[in-house]
Formats: sequence, C-alpha cells, structure tokens
Amino acid sequence: MHMARLQGKIALVTGSGRGIGRSIALKLAREGAKVVVNDLDAEPGDAVVAEIEGLGGDAVAVNGSVAEAGFADRFVGAALERFGGLDIIVNNAGYTWDSTIQKMTDEQFQAMLDVHLVAPFRILRAAAEPIRVFAKQEAEQGREVFRKIVNISSIAGLYGNAGQASYSSAKASLVGLTRTLCKEWGRYKVNVNCVAFGLINTRLTQPIEAQQKTIDVAGHEIKVGVQPPMLEMMARMIPLGRGGTPEEAADAVYLFCSPESNYISGQVVVAGGGLIV
Ligand SMILES: NC(=O)c1ccc[n+]([C@@H]2O[C@H](COP(=O)([O-])OP(=O)(O)OC[C@H]3O[C@@H](n4cnc5c(N)ncnc54)[C@H](O)[C@@H]3O)[C@@H](O)[C@H]2O)c1
Repeated sequence: MHMARLQGKIALVTGSGRGIGRSIALKLAREGAKVVVNDLDAEPGDAVVAEIEGLGGDAVAVNGSVAEAGFADRFVGAALERFGGLDIIVNNAGYTWDSTIQKMTDEQFQAMLDVHLVAPFRILRAAAEPIRVFAKQEAEQGREVFRKIVNISSIAGLYGNAGQASYSSAKASLVGLTRTLCKEWGRYKVNVNCVAFGLINTRLTQPIEAQQKTIDVAGHEIKVGVQPPMLEMMARMIPLGRGGTPEEAADAVYLFCSPESNYISGQVVVAGGGLIV
C-alpha cells in the first residue's frame, strides 16, 4: 500500500499549470498535500485543479502573474483561507527571454528579475508572518513541525549561459535569497533549499524547428526552444544520456518537501542527470 508522505500538508506551487510546476503539483497532491495552484491564465491552472480533484485530492487555483503587485498576498491568503495553513512553497513560475547582452533591453532584464527573483521574495515575505505565528504556536505545544521552501533555479544561474544575462542573474540571486532565508527561518523550523535544473524537456527547451515556437507572456510573444545541435551536444554531455522529464524534475523537488529532508537547509542541488558545466 502506498503511504502518502505529505498527508494534510498545504502546498503552494507557482507556475503549476504546465511543465515542471504541473508535475510538482500532481506529485505533492498524490502524496496527500492540498495544493494552491497558479498560472498566468485561468485555463491551465484550472485544468490542474481538475486533475488533482480527479485523483481525489484537494486544490484551488490562484491565477495571474506572480509578478503582479498584490499577487503574493492573494496567493498566501488563499492557502490560509481555503485550507487554514501553509507548509510548502515552491517558487517555480518562470520563463526565458534570451538575447545576447548587446541586444538585451531594460524591459527584458527587468522582466527576468521580476518573475524569477522579486516574485519569490514577495511570496516569501507574505508568508513570513503566518509562518512565525504557526511556528510559535507549535513551539508552545512542544511540537517541531518542519515547513519547506523550494526555490527553482537553473544551471544557468550557477554557471552562466550565453544569451541569458538576465535569466542567469535572476536565478543566481535566488540562491542568495535561499541561503539567507535558511538563516532567518531556521528558528521557525523552515527548510529552505534550491533545486537547479539542467535540461528538462518542457516547452521552454523544445527543439527549435523551421517555425520557432513562441509563448505569450503579458502580451509579449517570446521565442522559446533550443537549437537541435545544442540539444544533441547537451545529451552527449549529460552522463545519464538525456534530458529529464517533468516528472523526474518534480521528484527532485519532492525530496525537499518530504520529511526526509528535515535536517537539510540552505542547499542547492542540481537535478541535471549528472551534468557538470
Ligand atoms: N526546462 C528546463 O530545462 C529548465 C531548466 C532550468 C530551470 N527551469 C525552470 O523551471 C521552472 C519551470 O519551467 P518549465 O520548463 O516547466 O516551463 P513551462 O513553460 O513548461 O512551465 C512554466 C509555467 O509557468 C508559467 N508562468 C510563466 N510566467 C509566469 C508568471 N509570471 N506568473 C505565473 N505563472 C507563470 C507558464 O505559463 C507555464 O505554465 C522555471 O522557473 C524555469 O526557469 C527549467
């Protein structure tokens, strides 16, 4: 029999309408967590809520951009109002908007900081007071309850990547935020860790074909995908021989949401099939 490891936990996952975030939301739900789902538009977020409900789980969607003013309070507020708590936060929402530095606009640079760094900061700041209050109550009851923050970074943030001055700067900064909150929130029994992905097969990393795919973010058509020769080179460089699946990516995040990681905090783990850049 499968023993659910996160029974009764309340998890918030940004950008969970598609890709890795969706797999994280489903994985946590299968382990018994109630999930606050989010995506830019209502359709993908609502679809994941329906999938979780179809599994017999409980979920609610708080849609809209994580970069919007007021989003963090709505998101954290939904967990408290709908489920009465807050145990796991996964800062996953994001996209790439690449250019070499000479072509990179201020808007492009700022957009990457906003979604990958400022939004996680605001969400964690909004969660600080409820976490402090819960932790105080639990301490008074003599209970040690671990909460989990997982920030999603990238090998681009750790080692750099040509064309990603903005993205890699934001993803590197997220590591700083992770390590600082590990120190601020240890007293509240919060494990704050970072999972940095290598190559995971999602729409962001699909092979660029004759017609390059675009994604729509706040009215901008942004080109996504990776040139096939680059994908072939990466596959050769990855010791495990291929890119990861969104499910494998979600499994790595799950490690830092589970009780088995209760004594691990402030760490960055690369989920990249052994890739060392
Ligand atoms: N795929 C990879 O190889 C890879 C590698 C390293 C890091 N990452 C990171 O993993 C995370 C997930 O990426 P993915 O590959 O699953 O991409 P994806 O495009 O498949 O899924 C990301 C989801 O986030 C949503 N999103 C984007 N901006 C948002 C915003 N402002 N507010 C709310 N939702 C928003 C998108 O609509 C999408 O549904 C991102 O932070 C990405 O930078 C991915």
